[in-house]
Amino acid sequence: MTRPRTTVVALAAGLLAAAGAFVVLSPSANAAATLGAAAAEKGRYFGTAVAAYKLSDSVYSGILNREFNSVTPENEMKWDATEPSQNSFSFSSADTIVNRAVANGAKVRGHALAWHSQQPSWAQNMSGTTLRNAMLNHVTRVATYYRGKIDSWDVVNEAFADGSTGARRDSNLQRTGNDWIEAAFRAARAADPAAKLCYNDYNTDGQNAKSNAVYAMVQDFKSRGVPIDCVGFQSHFNAQSPLPSDYQANLQRFANLGVDVQITELDIEGSGTTQANSFASVVRACLAVTRCNGITVWGIRDSDSWRASGTPLLFDGNGNPKAAYNSTLSALGGGTNPSSSPTSSPSTSISPSTSPSNPNPGGSGCTATTSVNAWNGGFVLTVKITAGSARINGWTAGLTLPSGSSVTNTWNATASGTSGAVSFTNVSYNGGVNAGASTEFGFQGTGSAPTTTPTCTSR
Ligand code: G3I
Repeated sequence: MTRPRTTVVALAAGLLAAAGAFVVLSPSANAAATLGAAAAEKGRYFGTAVAAYKLSDSVYSGILNREFNSVTPENEMKWDATEPSQNSFSFSSADTIVNRAVANGAKVRGHALAWHSQQPSWAQNMSGTTLRNAMLNHVTRVATYYRGKIDSWDVVNEAFADGSTGARRDSNLQRTGNDWIEAAFRAARAADPAAKLCYNDYNTDGQNAKSNAVYAMVQDFKSRGVPIDCVGFQSHFNAQSPLPSDYQANLQRFANLGVDVQITELDIEGSGTTQANSFASVVRACLAVTRCNGITVWGIRDSDSWRASGTPLLFDGNGNPKAAYNSTLSALGGGTNPSSSPTSSPSTSISPSTSPSNPNPGGSGCTATTSVNAWNGGFVLTVKITAGSARINGWTAGLTLPSGSSVTNTWNATASGTSGAVSFTNVSYNGGVNAGASTEFGFQGTGSAPTTTPTCTSR
C-alpha cells in the first residue's frame, strides 16, 4: 500500500546561483516519501487501524493506500463482530480490510482474539468451562479462517489490571482459571503456526507494576514453552498518561526476553511541537530496538480517532499532514512528501539567493536543499543536509525568514531564533553524516516560506 518514492522538489544551490534559475526538480529523492516506505527501509512496517465502513471515503482510502503498509482492523475482528451468535461466524467486514491489504501487499495485524471487552452478549453471560471452551473455539475458528494472512495476532488483549497490584484484571475469562491466557496462545498457534502471536496491553509502555507483571508472564511463558512471539505496546498517550522517559528501555527489556515488540495503537493527544516531538521520540525508540517490528497508529485523521477531541493522530480532519506527520516521517529517515496534502497546494516556487555573499558553502562540508509545503499563512520547510566528500560530525543550517514570518516548531534540529536570521543545528542523533549521505530536519512556520537557500556549515 506504499507507493514508490516520489520526486522531491530540491534546490541545487550552486547550480541555481550560476544559472540564476529558480527551481530544480530532482529526479531522485534519497529519502522515502511515505511512512510505509520509510519504515520499510528500516526493515519495519508503519500501519494504521482501519475501519471498514470508511474505506469508501476517498480521502481516507487515499491516505491509507499512500502511507501505510500494515493495517489493523479497528473493530471488525473482535469477538462481537466475528461471532455474533455462538458458532455463527461473520467475517465480511474484516474480509474487506484483509483482502484489500493482501492485494496491496500490506501486512495485517489481527486484533483481537480473546478480550474481556467487546464480547458478544451470549459470551458475556457465560462462565466456567462453558466460557473457556467457547473462547478456545472462537480463537481456533477465527485464527484458522485467516491462516496465512495475518502477520501478527493480538491473541490476548488487556488482561492485566491497572494500578500497583500487578494482578490480572478481573473478568469472566480470568474467572475461568489463570491459565486462560496460555490456553488461548496454544490454540492460536495450532490454528495458524506462521502468525506471530502477541500479548497486547496499554499502560505498559514504561516500567511499572503492570508492565512488570506482563514481563513476568512473558518470562514464564518463554521458560515453559508457551507459544508467544511478541508483545504489543498500545501507546495511547495524553497529559495524564504521557510518553514515559523509559519507553525505549522498556521495549528493550521485553525484547531481551526473546520476543518481538510492536507499537500497536499509537496516538498522542496534543498539537504542534510537543506532539510532533513525542511522535518522533516513539519512532526513534522503535528504531533503536532491533526487535521492534513496526508501529501502528490508531487511526488516520484526527476525526477518525476514538478520542477525536484530543487530535491525537498524524493527519487533521481534512486529511492534511500535521507537524506530527512530518516529524514522524523524518524520524523514520524519510523525506518530505510534497503531495501528501489533499487540500493544500504544495508550493514549488522557491527563489534562490543570487547574492554572492550568501553562497551555500557545499564543497567537502555540506549542502542544504529544501522542499516546501506552503499554504495561505503558513508553511512546512524540510531541509536536507547532504555531506560532501568527507564525513561530517555536525552541521548548522542558516537562513533568513521573510519579514513577518516565524518558526513555530522544529523537528530533528535545534532552532536558534524564531524570526529574521535563524539557524538550525543537528540534535544528538543526526549530526554524523557519512560522505555523500543525507539527513533531514524540518520546521513549521507562520507567514510566508523563506525564499533563500540555507547555508550549511559542517563540523
Ligand atoms: O458501529 C456502531 C454504530 O452503528 C452505532 O451507531 C454506534 C453507537 O454507539 O456504535 C458503533 O460502534 C462503535 C464502534 O467503536 C465503531 O465506531 C462502538 O459503540 C464502540 O464501542 C467502538 O469503540 C471501539 C472500542 O475499541 C471498543 O472497545 C473503538 O472504535 C476502538 O478504537 C477501540 O479500540 C481499542 C482497542 O480495541 C483496544 N485498545 C484500546 C482501544 C481504544 O479504546
